[in-house]
Amino acid sequence: MLDRLKDIEKTGLAALESVKDPAALDIWRVAHLGRSSPLMQVFSGLGQLSKEERPAVGQAANRVKVALEAALAERTEAVKAAAMAKSLEEEELDVTLPGRGVRLGRLHPSTQQLRRVQDILSDMGFQVYTSREVETDEINFQALNFPPHHPAREMQDTLYIDAGERGDNPILLRTQTSPGQIRAMREYSQKNPENPPPIRIAVPGMCFRSEQITARSEVQFNQVEGLAVGEHITFADLKGTLSDFARRMFGQNVRTRFRASYFPFTEPSAEMDVECFVCGGTGCPVCKQSGWLEILGCGMVHPLVLENGGYDPRRYTGYAFGMGPERQLMLRYKIDDIRYFWGNDMRFLEQF
Ligand code: DAH
Repeated sequence: MLDRLKDIEKTGLAALESVKDPAALDIWRVAHLGRSSPLMQVFSGLGQLSKEERPAVGQAANRVKVALEAALAERTEAVKAAAMAKSLEEEELDVTLPGRGVRLGRLHPSTQQLRRVQDILSDMGFQVYTSREVETDEINFQALNFPPHHPAREMQDTLYIDAGERGDNPILLRTQTSPGQIRAMREYSQKNPENPPPIRIAVPGMCFRSEQITARSEVQFNQVEGLAVGEHITFADLKGTLSDFARRMFGQNVRTRFRASYFPFTEPSAEMDVECFVCGGTGCPVCKQSGWLEILGCGMVHPLVLENGGYDPRRYTGYAFGMGPERQLMLRYKIDDIRYFWGNDMRFLEQF
């Protein structure tokens, strides 16, 4: 029996030599120290031995058990240390490698153009006035002299937020920045109703229309509105200011022309063209051979609109204008599809 124990110890220790990972350690433990291992069978057979034999065999079995357990503990440590060394070697972190480059963001081309327009107008004395994107029918249309069912509303297909409950004054997304005129005039005139101060503001921001999205029309686009109200403001001021704006925006030698037009909130109304900066006025596909590019709408503020803003039209006059930064970019860079602006294609955006 004692020989058998020696044999068990020898086989166990020898088998442990080739154990190299945690899974194999486990298998070894079950085979050599587990309940049905040869060693444990010796323990459970002790009862059948004679009284004389029992102490010596018991002690020897215990000694083998302790030896095997000690060897297992030692091997476990060695396996762990080897695994650690291996992972340190394989997953080595080279702190001297250069870091990953930081990708710089940039402003959207529309924002860049919006700011160019704003910078020029600020230089000319216009203050930036921020108006809201969610408007009422009253401010977006009625106060600007578009009565309910007026045919001019058909030029601006509207996105309504609640069409049902508010009768003739539904909430909508502004279709133009012109309601900023009403908000600004009311805010200023309320400060001093007897003697409202002169105004010179620029209202930049997003507008929304219920359009079929095509190469030429989008459901959202930016506008910049201009408004000047005061005593003795004339159409000559409008022409001078906008011609100066055009020279600052499109080049010192650029020529402008004004064509009669119609907007409900201005009278008289006009559109301003600049000489085509692609062909210099000789005619090309961008200006459709006309030599001129339409840049903005403008006019003298309608007396009813002044009154709706709290300015007495017998004492005050004013001019207004509205333009589109995306349209300016499309002309300037010959962009033939407006969907690029909100398509979020990096290949387009990264060019600006
Ligand atoms: N609100 C007009 C539009 O969206 C643009 C416009 C035209 C604004 C003439 C003006 C103006 O202030 O005087 O079509």
